[in-house]
Amino acid sequence: MKILITGGAGFIGSHVVRLFVNKYPNYTIHNLDKLTYAGNLANLTDIEKKPNYKFVKGDIVDASFINSLFEKEKYNAVIHLAAESHVDRSITNPLEFVMTNVIGTVNLLNAYKKSGVYSQTAPLSLGEGRGGEAALFYHVSTDEVYGALGETGMFTEETSYDPHSPYSASKASSDHFVRAYYDTYKLPVVISNCSNNYGPNHFPEKLIPLCIHNIKNNKPLPIYGKGENVRDWLFVKDHAVAIDTIFHQAKLGSTYNIGGHNEWTNIDVIRLLCKVMDKKLNRPDGTNEKLITFVKDRAGHDLRYAIDATKLKNDLGWVPSVTFEQGLDQTVDWYLQNSEWLDNVTSGNYAKYYEEQYVKR
Ligand code: NAD
Ligand code: TYD
Repeated sequence: MKILITGGAGFIGSHVVRLFVNKYPNYTIHNLDKLTYAGNLANLTDIEKKPNYKFVKGDIVDASFINSLFEKEKYNAVIHLAAESHVDRSITNPLEFVMTNVIGTVNLLNAYKKSGVYSQTAPLSLGEGRGGEAALFYHVSTDEVYGALGETGMFTEETSYDPHSPYSASKASSDHFVRAYYDTYKLPVVISNCSNNYGPNHFPEKLIPLCIHNIKNNKPLPIYGKGENVRDWLFVKDHAVAIDTIFHQAKLGSTYNIGGHNEWTNIDVIRLLCKVMDKKLNRPDGTNEKLITFVKDRAGHDLRYAIDATKLKNDLGWVPSVTFEQGLDQTVDWYLQNSEWLDNVTSGNYAKYYEEQYVKR
């Protein structure tokens, strides 16, 4: 079983790669990543020398490269996480999101389809479950495709798509292409739509790692608008376990929502983080909260996301393993114990790691 994981040097991808490499020594895992600003091979130092792991540097937007790779490697399955992932960047540069998230996804679908491996390794039994069959194109997506909720309600797998940001519009578009390839070409696909992740290796442009970094350095904590927007936070390692579960058990053509039943306003998340870090940094209670600074709101800022993950629980038995307090505690500890990672990421030094480990070797 040879699996291509795209975006495996990024935040969530690195946790998925680690889980698969360690848990399935009989699978060969290739990690394809362009190493953009968000991709960092230092996320994977603990597994980079394992015999069932290989890193491939490349761009999913480059169709001829992707086609040759699939032709050569004959991947049985793909877990596709590579993407431009930050909403604020998508507001400044939407086209980059169209290229990677839409065109890149279609390139992968085409290459997998062309390679024909899926139809040889696994006779299709669409809609009847896979019973351990190997062939699958697993597309990892976001709850942001569903748009914004008001005070009540939750996103289910039946909620209509209503994306508002260039990021969520590009992810929605890629989801539609994946479904279209299932309907049109019988490509064996599965999609999951997950809520906001947090945890180790998160690039410090996103709310939680940015604020951990800023608290550590006594810098302002920028809260958009009044901090009343609600996100449903899930620990990244629980997302990786959900992906493993869905990869091995979901019916072809199905969609699963993944979430932590863990809604917080942004201001409450940051207040909790400030308290946790007052203790960890031996600062008097209330010190870090003084860093909170309300700034101009994000354009088109979605008010509330909340995932109903009942289908995943009922069908496949997945539930999160940690509470938000436990996960946040582990996350803060990780960042405090990995100052070098944070310093390298904030200075861009991690690109040198690739040069040293992979190019010169
Ligand atoms: P990330 O930005 O941390 O990592 C993305 C990775 O993709 C990086 O390693 C980057 O180098 C790579 N990449 C980007 N463009 C590429 C290209 N053209 N070719 C090859 N590789 C490329 O993102 P993340 O937070 O780990 O998100 C991973 C996936 O999960 C994305 O598809 C995202 O939409 C989805 N998702 C993220 C969240 C979240 O909270 N972070 C929640 C739900 C779903
Ligand atoms: P973010 O981590 O960018 O994830 P997403 O936009 O995908 O939900 O943002 C999480 C929430 O935090 C979102 O409501 C925007 C808000 N936010 C801030 O208030 N300040 C910040 O500096 C950032 C990056 C985000």
